[in-house]
Amino acid sequence: MCGIVGYIGGKQAAPVILDGLSKLEYRGYDSAGIAVFGGEGINYKKSTGRLKVLENLTRGGADMPGCCGIGHTRWATHGVPSNENAHPHFNQKETISVVHNGIIENYLQLKKFLEKKGYVFVSETDTEVLAHLLDYYYKGNPMEAIFRMLRRVEGSYALGILFAEHPDTLFAARKDSPLIVGQNEEGCFIASDVPAILKYTRRVTYVDNQEIVKLHASHMHFYNIDEEEIRKEPVLIDWDENAAEKAGYEHFMLKEMYEQPKTVTATISPRIQKGDIRIEELDMSDEELAAVKKIHIVACGSAYHAGVTGKYVIERLSRIPVEVDLASEFRYRDPILEEGAMVIVISQSGETADTLAALREAKKRGFRILGIVNVVGSSIAREADNVLYTWAGPEIAVATTKAYTAQLVALYLLAMKLAKVKGTLGKEEFEHLLGCLERLPYQIERLLNTKEQIQKFANRYLAAKDIFFIGRGIDYAISLEGSLKLKEISYIHSEAYAAGELKHGTISLIEEGTLVTAVSTQPELYQKMISNIVEVRARGAFVMAVTGEDNREIGKAADYVIYIPETAPVFANSLAIIPLQLFGYYVAVGRGCDVDKPRNLAKSVTVE
Ligand code: G6P
Repeated sequence: MCGIVGYIGGKQAAPVILDGLSKLEYRGYDSAGIAVFGGEGINYKKSTGRLKVLENLTRGGADMPGCCGIGHTRWATHGVPSNENAHPHFNQKETISVVHNGIIENYLQLKKFLEKKGYVFVSETDTEVLAHLLDYYYKGNPMEAIFRMLRRVEGSYALGILFAEHPDTLFAARKDSPLIVGQNEEGCFIASDVPAILKYTRRVTYVDNQEIVKLHASHMHFYNIDEEEIRKEPVLIDWDENAAEKAGYEHFMLKEMYEQPKTVTATISPRIQKGDIRIEELDMSDEELAAVKKIHIVACGSAYHAGVTGKYVIERLSRIPVEVDLASEFRYRDPILEEGAMVIVISQSGETADTLAALREAKKRGFRILGIVNVVGSSIAREADNVLYTWAGPEIAVATTKAYTAQLVALYLLAMKLAKVKGTLGKEEFEHLLGCLERLPYQIERLLNTKEQIQKFANRYLAAKDIFFIGRGIDYAISLEGSLKLKEISYIHSEAYAAGELKHGTISLIEEGTLVTAVSTQPELYQKMISNIVEVRARGAFVMAVTGEDNREIGKAADYVIYIPETAPVFANSLAIIPLQLFGYYVAVGRGCDVDKPRNLAKSVTVE
């Protein structure tokens, strides 16, 4: 994963780079480094740990004067987090400096080749081969060296490169890892993602695969891998810079949970017009939509969980069969895609390597891809044939909340649209569902206001060893996400089970006092869930139920109950997930965990 930033211009580079990196820490945060042209060649500093350590080490960049530089925040792949493995990497003379996001797949081969030529390696990283390879090809012309290096490299990269002999130029290149460049009156920037430079400019150009950029203080040039200069147009980013700030909240995660009424509205409202659903981005006629015979949903992590909910909702409303796959499985399982199938990939970042590979796999087989994506202009958004954007805005906390709930409502819209054109939803039912959909933001807000009650309850479980989540149907999908939220940020072991599956093994894990969260929002399954609650309580479990306001029976069966407002059962996930997000959050806060940056994780997983 990792994040890269570079700057060349009239200002001091180090503070700009450190500030940019702080917006990219979600991409990795186990070590960081920075290199700046000083009077005498390239100065650099690296450190393990959070970016703060590097900031302190350089006194906020004040100790590294110079107007051109590159920086990196790392999520270790090749080699442990250490000073040696932290970027930037250098050639032996320290005249060429490289920061890299991605993986060089043939690095061992290249390393062997370079070692034979006498190059000595100091790190365990794949990136270091790039610095030595550049040195090997460099005969005074940096562009020539970069082109020759890139032709030998296999894998993915977003690169920032400095040559000591060319202090007025910053070089960048990209293949399969995100990279943007930006410009303002004072200078030019490179970065892995928009928030890193949003403070300085909104004029951003997306670098495409196998493109190389030469940046100077006042202008930049783009080239393709055939060494031809190309023209590229910048786009104007209309994000609010404050969207990437905490705005008084203790954590980004809390702020993002509180944004959900707004982000759900932003995702549904432009697509509801005059009592109907219009998804123009689909670019498909009603006849074409009605002809969809099967749907494949492919995604990773929480986006996959949104897909599991999507399966239940789409199947129930439109009767179109849906298969949901983890992208990392789909890409290698030689999937059977029948004619007339629709392929949907879901991704917040639009950069997840496995999801992108799955998209390409389906595209190769001639299928049109619909992307449900949050980050505008991301790789998945650009490679999908059609994009249904979730308008959740920038999400910074590693554990997703608002992007996930926006994905849910995007899927509801699609399900309703398909049901309408298929004729599987009557007019009245359609109108009822539409009303329910429009009420969701207010209901989410109501649930967020119960945060103190949930915090109190969460504080009782700070020392829990295991916490289980059970549910049936859509409630199973909610359980998957509730369990993931809890474990990824609190480090408490947790699993989600389809409640009917408990008796086939899992029930043996229940001990006296084990917390079991039972989600029960589907009226036709209430009785079954009550049986499951009774079963686990009989084995000593303490049961927290999440259920509909009208379901007082569950209230009696469980030890503790959180009621969610009344909605159509197919949309219940959007409400039931709110107390589960709050629960996970407060358990993690109570345990003193780094909620926004959980250990070992990164938000944008651009490696396999
Ligand atoms: C990472 C994040 C998860 C996210 C998953 C998929 O693991 O930590 O929160 O759900 O990647 O990311 P995407 O950007 O494709 O939705």
